[in-house]
Amino acid sequence: MAVRSYRIALIPGDGVGKEVVPAARQVLEALPLRFDFVELEAGWETFTRTGTALPQRTASAIRGCDGAIFGATQSPSQKVEGYSSPILALRKQLDLYANLRPVVSMPVPGSRFGVDMLIVRENTECLYVRQERLEDDGNTAVAQRVITRRASERIARKAFALARSRAASRKGEHAEGRPRVTIVHKANVLSLTDGLFREACQAAAKEFPDVEVEEQIVDSMIYRMIREPERYDVIVAPNLYGDILSDAAAALVGGLGLAPSANVGDAFTLVEPVHGSAPDIAGKGLANPCATILAAAQLLASLGEGEMAQRVQDAVHAALLDGVWTPDLGGTATTKRMTEAIVEKLQERDKEV
Ligand code: NAI
Ligand code: MG
Repeated sequence: MAVRSYRIALIPGDGVGKEVVPAARQVLEALPLRFDFVELEAGWETFTRTGTALPQRTASAIRGCDGAIFGATQSPSQKVEGYSSPILALRKQLDLYANLRPVVSMPVPGSRFGVDMLIVRENTECLYVRQERLEDDGNTAVAQRVITRRASERIARKAFALARSRAASRKGEHAEGRPRVTIVHKANVLSLTDGLFREACQAAAKEFPDVEVEEQIVDSMIYRMIREPERYDVIVAPNLYGDILSDAAAALVGGLGLAPSANVGDAFTLVEPVHGSAPDIAGKGLANPCATILAAAQLLASLGEGEMAQRVQDAVHAALLDGVWTPDLGGTATTKRMTEAIVEKLQERDKEV
């Protein structure tokens, strides 16, 4: 049987993106699968060199790929004429409407036990439509927040379907318990925008009577998530709340160095670490590659390679259990050492089989 080859776009971007994306590539290359990698550029450095943060070639070549791994890009905190964030543009252009951020206990000292939740963040609208303007001679700044019924129902259906499939695949000690979706909003204050999000989620919930549904106001959600993270299953949130919740959630299970995410559409998946370009550690060879490697596992799962995805996750866990930790986890391993340890675990497994 001819072995198919997956065409994967690699967009390292800036800062540690240039270190962690090659690490993920190295791990994929250690699997018994065939890949055809397409290196593409985007980000701040690309902008300063070419005048655009997302070159046309990147935007079009990615469409010819089966999936993509994105590192991180550096964004200026003041407005720079002509610059706009490439990841936001890609999410929009490819209609990657769901951002899936799993938050799972990890075998490292900073991680809580018994956590296994999935944050499903709406990825196309809310304040990220970036319609901001100045009024009153620059003394008033106004941002537009857009919530549509269509996008809210679409993300809610995705969340409920994922809750259902997660429950079906849970085994053994975790098998009991009904799947549950927690809807996050602030409809008590933003009754029109968050009110619509909430209403659309509740409408979608009716299609999934087997899935329990609950609601929680975003501020108390963060509080309770930190107090009792074990109680959550799937969490669905508008774009900004989902962004903030997921960075906070990452802190519960070992930090940003371990937190992966997948931008998912109906036809394409682009994975990336939750973290940014980490300018404070960039170029030193000390970035934790695990977030991006676990994101690559999410990509494998989206390609139907669930078993390979599991192997990568198991290899990351095994390397961490051995105490191979980068400085963010309290260890001294370099990016290179951490990556090699994961590759070694994959190879050990191949020998056993
Ligand atoms: P950040 O996520 O880059 O860094 C936050 C902290 O976590 C820093 O102390 C950093 O050293 C640490 N950290 C991040 N990734 C790590 C890793 N792999 N290993 C070890 N430690 C790690 O967030 P920050 O500093 O707020 O933003 C830096 C730049 O990244 C900004 O220009 C921002 O706009 C951009 N950014 C880009 C994102 C993207 O491309 N999707 C997402 C978030 C931020
Ligand atoms: Mg973020």
